[in-house]
Amino acid sequence: MLVLIDNANIYEIERLYSMYPYDGVTTNPSILMNERKNPIKVLQSIRDFLPKSSQLHAQVVSESTEQMIEEAHFMLREIDEQLFIKVPVTAQGMRAIHLLKQEGINITATAIYTAMQAFMAAKAGARYTAPYVNRLDNMGADGVQVAMDIHTMFRANNMEADVLAASFKNSQQILNLCKHGIGAVTASPDVLDALIHHDATFTAEENFTQDFYSLVSEVTGLHFKEKESRKIN
Ligand code: G3P
Repeated sequence: MLVLIDNANIYEIERLYSMYPYDGVTTNPSILMNERKNPIKVLQSIRDFLPKSSQLHAQVVSESTEQMIEEAHFMLREIDEQLFIKVPVTAQGMRAIHLLKQEGINITATAIYTAMQAFMAAKAGARYTAPYVNRLDNMGADGVQVAMDIHTMFRANNMEADVLAASFKNSQQILNLCKHGIGAVTASPDVLDALIHHDATFTAEENFTQDFYSLVSEVTGLHFKEKESRKIN
């Protein structure tokens, strides 16, 4: 399962990549709005930072098929020809997906709330389909189940498309999708941080360290303050 960062802040992206080899970055117009900068420049600097093997996804905002295609061409020219173009699964968007696919462009179908929307987008040519897990949960639906159903449908129909589940509020939602073997998830930095954080791990590490330096004190007769003792190795 690929794990991507759903954020456009270059410092956050750099921070996360310094800790872990993520698989790429996804953005949407609202995420770019948070940066209050020229969105093309923001996307260019993200692309410049990312390793070549990492994906970058950016969304079109036009309503008509023709304008979506024009916008996609503009972003591919300005940012990267391997950019994943995110297209909302409106009727106009489905047509754009079909036409962009014929040009060999990477497409992520987005704003997905039903399994059938994902199925039709994949038939039209989307490489990834992005169901909004937490937004579905907030509507009283089961977002994880919708994402798992989409994955099952793709495999049952021998389709090449994958789920790129988006919109998460906790690591449990991601765990359930990981167990099901879905293709990819994208999550905000706070949710990604929560994937590895556990207070008990921190406490265990502290206890081990304390025990070790107690032992060092015992066998050497030297006494270390916590801060100094941590410099030993
Ligand atoms: O790209 C879609 C995703 O970012 C939505 O997430 O947290 O706004 O529901 P959220």
